[in-house]
Amino acid sequence: MRLIRKTFPPKSGFINVSRLLILKKSRFTFKTDMIISLKDINKSYPGAVPLHVLKDVNLSIDKGELVSIMGASGSGKSTLLNILGILDNYDSGEYYLDGVLIKDLSENKAADLRNYMIGFVFQSFNLISYKNALENVALPLFYRGVSRRQRNKLAMEQLERMGMADRATHLPSELSGGQKQRVAIARALITKPSIILADEPTGALDSKTSKEVMQVFRDLNAEGMTIVIVTHDPGVGEQTNRIIRIVDGRIV
Ligand SMILES: Nc1ncnc2c1ncn2[C@@H]1O[C@H](COP(=O)(O)OP(=O)(O)O)[C@@H](O)[C@H]1O
Ligand SMILES: [Mg+2]
Repeated sequence: MRLIRKTFPPKSGFINVSRLLILKKSRFTFKTDMIISLKDINKSYPGAVPLHVLKDVNLSIDKGELVSIMGASGSGKSTLLNILGILDNYDSGEYYLDGVLIKDLSENKAADLRNYMIGFVFQSFNLISYKNALENVALPLFYRGVSRRQRNKLAMEQLERMGMADRATHLPSELSGGQKQRVAIARALITKPSIILADEPTGALDSKTSKEVMQVFRDLNAEGMTIVIVTHDPGVGEQTNRIIRIVDGRIV
């Protein structure tokens, strides 16, 4: 991973870096279509009485799947998604992401893998309020040292893909909830991630808009994108191709 950091910022987008990732990965990659594999994952939050949130979670997701993780509020969905997204650690077990063991990583290594493999979509959109739609979508490329001209070109392509090109110069406050989520999805896609992880992506939307956003995910999946959606909404789960259910921290 040190190799990767030395190449920042890449001269021409992210091609060089993803090649390096493959080289580095090959040392401990196994041949599989699985992009996510969890084995006996346990996770507790510390406290006077530690809270055991994930209990012996076993789970695998193949490349190209559109799956939902469904469960009641407090069942551990966000905790699980944060582990999948390398935003949080786990206590025991093994997590392989595209063949790479995600365990005891340094902050830098975790950030690199996260930035190059995962696109996040959140319930609250997480757009920067003083930047317009185009600037929000382009931002991840700024951190990769991509030129302004190139990142604006690529950001506009993603906005077009989301049917949002005519809103490129609008601020988030000038967009509807559904439009904000489309901008957030465009931002997640711009780094060409291997997988999209979405935590309650329709949680702030009315049911009609929710269906439209789910259709966006379905279209992306039809193009081959692997997508994992966490939701407590059965209507959302129904629109995915597989439902993984979690009850009180256990997959059932
Ligand atoms: N950072 C944290 N520290 C302590 N407890 C937490 C933390 N995050 C979540 N929890 C607790 O863990 C349980 C599962 O939370 P979470 O994964 O957010 O559930 P869900 O997303 O399914 O609603 C809940 O009881 C919650 O209060
Ligand atoms: Mg949650």
